[in-house]
Amino acid sequence: MDYHDMLARLGEGSAHPGGFLATLKLLDSLSLPVGSHILEIGCGTGRTACYLAKSGYQVTAIDLHRNMLDKAVRRARQERVDVRFIQADVAALPFPENHFDVVFVESVTIFTPWRSALAEYRRVLKPAGLLVDREMVLSGSKTELMSRRLKQFYGIRTLATATAWRKRLKQCGFTKVEVKEHSRSMGKWGVDHDPHREMDMNWFEDERMQRMSLTNDRLLAKYGKKLGYAVFAARAPLEVKKEK
Ligand SMILES: C[S@@+](CC[C@H](N)C(=O)[O-])C[C@H]1O[C@@H](n2cnc3c(N)ncnc32)[C@H](O)[C@@H]1O
Repeated sequence: MDYHDMLARLGEGSAHPGGFLATLKLLDSLSLPVGSHILEIGCGTGRTACYLAKSGYQVTAIDLHRNMLDKAVRRARQERVDVRFIQADVAALPFPENHFDVVFVESVTIFTPWRSALAEYRRVLKPAGLLVDREMVLSGSKTELMSRRLKQFYGIRTLATATAWRKRLKQCGFTKVEVKEHSRSMGKWGVDHDPHREMDMNWFEDERMQRMSLTNDRLLAKYGKKLGYAVFAARAPLEVKKEK
């Protein structure tokens, strides 16, 4: 069982820094045109995807994890919203080029090979389409041991400062790269009530889950002060990419 299996079993609806309330605030500030076609990357149990659909957007959402997606599908059914959920890897998105108005990501890119992920976000965005990505960033100095432990437990593949992420986005061809939010702490999540949260029964009796929960607390106590988060907004270039 890995970290994402644990989140899926817990049915966590907003597993990212700042939680769902931060997402609501962010979406409010973005004022995305109603009817926009949004791709949510790494949608987890679908809370944001369903909220976006309810708000009048056309939503497609992908995640690699089957248990997450099954819960997302049931959530959409309960909320009576229409979201197209697809099991897929960010490194090989099953969509044509120039397809979406917005790519929305919260706490996913750090778990992936970032160059492939950013290249895929860019490929599927329409010219001048908007990428919004909230990721954990480094706010203090990292040690090799810290990177190794975070990689081992959370599966984090890249730990970089907000400045380094800005450079990465530019390197990958994004324009108008902005840091919309930057916090030197991780913020809280899981504090607001999620009426459609679906927790697997008896997880608390599972010793592996208990051990993982303890390790999570220990790692956050040890390294939390060196971690923060940032929200990046960037535009795909204006020229139309040609289908291969
Ligand atoms: C920390 S959770 C965040 C989920 C959701 N965005 C949220 O804020 O609640 C990270 C999510 O990314 C998904 N994920 C990780 N690597 C992925 C990949 N390579 N392709 C697609 N999804 C991935 C995980 O399955 C998990 O649902």
